[in-house]
Amino acid sequence: MQYRTLVSRARAAKRHSHSPYSRFRVGAAVLAASGKVYTGCNIENSSYGLTVCAERTALFKAVSEGEKSFVAVAIASDETSSTPPCGACRQVIMDLAGDIDVILSTSNGSFTVMKASDLLPHPFGGENLKNVRRTRR
Ligand code: THU
Repeated sequence: MQYRTLVSRARAAKRHSHSPYSRFRVGAAVLAASGKVYTGCNIENSSYGLTVCAERTALFKAVSEGEKSFVAVAIASDETSSTPPCGACRQVIMDLAGDIDVILSTSNGSFTVMKASDLLPHPFGGENLKNVRRTRR
């Protein structure tokens, strides 16, 4: 799939954004290795900290449908400059999807491609937990 198409899917997903508090609409589209696309939007909560970003919505949808391997995630907002993923989403992307392409798009549809590892160098990961049993008992 062309990344241009993935960006279009992220832009379409943005229409479902539930963002009555920030009015900042975000959409995301995850391309799985299976070829399937999973979309998501940001879903805000009146208890603000419970808000979930578009990237995590899309990725969690994909994982919950059985996807384990990923190629890219596209992100779209209404801004003329691109919206980079927040720190929490960078962690979740690296943890669940690995070093995939992260496609940052602008409101006119132009985009740039970055690697997840450039957005989150030196990530925490499952391998950091491998000694937990030995050290605790
Ligand atoms: N947000 C996302 O959904 N993704 C991002 O990459 C940045 C921030 C959302 C969270 C919140 O609903 C709104 O944008 C403003 O922070």
